[in-house]
Amino acid sequence: MLDVPFRPADPLYERVKAVIPPVEWAFFAGDIAAILELKRARNAVILAHNYQTPEIFHCVADIVGDSLALAREAMKTDAQVIVLAGVHFMAETAKLLNPAKRVLSPDLDAGCSLAASITAADVRLLRERYPGVPIVTYVNSSAAVKAESDICCTSANARKIVEGLGVPRVIMLPDEYLAQNVAAQTSVEIIAWTGHCEVHERFSAAEVRELRQRYPGVSVLAHPECPPEVVAEADFTGSTAAMADYIGKYQPARVVLMTECSMSDNVALLNPAVEFIRPCNLCPHMKRITLPKIRRALETMRHAVTIDPAVADRARRAVERMLAL
Ligand code: 13P
Ligand code: SF4
Repeated sequence: MLDVPFRPADPLYERVKAVIPPVEWAFFAGDIAAILELKRARNAVILAHNYQTPEIFHCVADIVGDSLALAREAMKTDAQVIVLAGVHFMAETAKLLNPAKRVLSPDLDAGCSLAASITAADVRLLRERYPGVPIVTYVNSSAAVKAESDICCTSANARKIVEGLGVPRVIMLPDEYLAQNVAAQTSVEIIAWTGHCEVHERFSAAEVRELRQRYPGVSVLAHPECPPEVVAEADFTGSTAAMADYIGKYQPARVVLMTECSMSDNVALLNPAVEFIRPCNLCPHMKRITLPKIRRALETMRHAVTIDPAVADRARRAVERMLAL
């Protein structure tokens, strides 16, 4: 019997009690105990993205971070099984970098509006239309799209990748706003696709101005998937990991994160002196991942992520080029 009774003094509960009430913890405790035991039994690690809920992020994950960190860390683990608590493109990237390991997704339907905005055929058409122009593809994309690309990037390294190619013009896909935000920082000409993140596209400059009026002195941090008008109003723009690092380093008295809801909960727990203002936008795809589904993945060893062998090698090359740069 792996289910454990609710124990308020449980050291794991201490980590999250500022955002999870005891009545909710009573629901989580049994799954958490079971997952910790199953990880040992299966020689498994759990990689969790910064948008996972606190009971996943702080209580069962072995490695947490942004897309870039998860890709890097996936390569370093000795474990035989990787459970990716994040969306499908993250699990696919982990599998690309670990073809011999079993990579499990707790829910194969955890998608992403950016990844869904473009197909491999679209990329082939772009290549025909702009011959010789390198294609830089955001990791928020399918393996099939990565396979048609020259190199990948994440929100943490997009500018570096674009400039590192040493060419005057690149195609950047699929996120139009990320492309525009990078274009504002570089002299490289960027041809963008028109995909958007359904979470970040909802933030507006007017919302930032209103927040500043209502919460004087608030520091505004934005993810680069936000529209450029939001980035222009922010004090700092960076990947999810860069925003967390900024708060850890500068300890602003008050902060607002123009990004997904759980990120504020996770970072707030690590920075109790910082007041978090929360204009919350949930990612429905990230929220498909739950403790019961992680437990089930480890119990049944499903759902194994597989990648079409016809695209795997080419997609891997695009991700590895990014990691090498
Ligand atoms: P990061 O790479 O900054 O973690 O972003 C991933 C993502 O999906 C943001 O919406
Ligand atoms: Fe995709 Fe946006 Fe969700 Fe990130 S937050 S996984 S970019 S839909």
